[in-house]
Amino acid sequence: MTPSAYAFDLYGTLVDFTSLRNRAYPSIIDSAAFIETWRAKQLQYAFLSTLVTRYEDFDELTGHALDFAAAQHGASLDAATRAELVGAWSSLPVYPEVPEVLTALRQRGARLVVLSNGTPRAIASTLAAAKIAPLLDGALSVDEARAYKPSPEVYHLAAKFFKLPRERIAFVSSNGWDAMGAAEFGFTVYWCNRTSATPETFGAKPAHTIVTLRELLDA
Ligand code: LAC
Repeated sequence: MTPSAYAFDLYGTLVDFTSLRNRAYPSIIDSAAFIETWRAKQLQYAFLSTLVTRYEDFDELTGHALDFAAAQHGASLDAATRAELVGAWSSLPVYPEVPEVLTALRQRGARLVVLSNGTPRAIASTLAAAKIAPLLDGALSVDEARAYKPSPEVYHLAAKFFKLPRERIAFVSSNGWDAMGAAEFGFTVYWCNRTSATPETFGAKPAHTIVTLRELLDA
């Protein structure tokens, strides 16, 4: 059955955080490795935050993770650069196929939301900068649950929004762990494996694996 409701992850799924490596930060020598450490630590802090029940918003965690990455890579960040780098997560470029795919899904009558770890403000700025806000029916932030993905409480926000049985909601994420969490919750998951990542070997599997969002139009 063609899905009538889609919940999209944001970072890495609709917008490209690897673009951060193209920004010029002279003190950071290997920017690709730096961004990789930063993202991995950002996610690890989100997992930790939920496990130890110490909620800080995603901008805060992104800042803590940046400090870690700077320390690990021997980079010195002044306050202005730190603020600029954290703020850069609010204006990341959209993947090229996204506007067309969201438009086509809407034309079929599907309802679309973003479900992200990001703060409500960062999500709103990102969608506005990418000019895709009008293509979505809503933007849901983990902030409401004060827990991060893959906590079931977060996926519940989308189930509550759509008021549909879980399996009738298509959840789309490029993160293998997020795809696993959403599949465990009971969503019909599309794992968008843009980077030829190794599939997760633990837990519920995604119903579909796609390479770009364009394949959603084949469903
Ligand atoms: C998000 C991160 C996990 O947008 O990519 O929620």
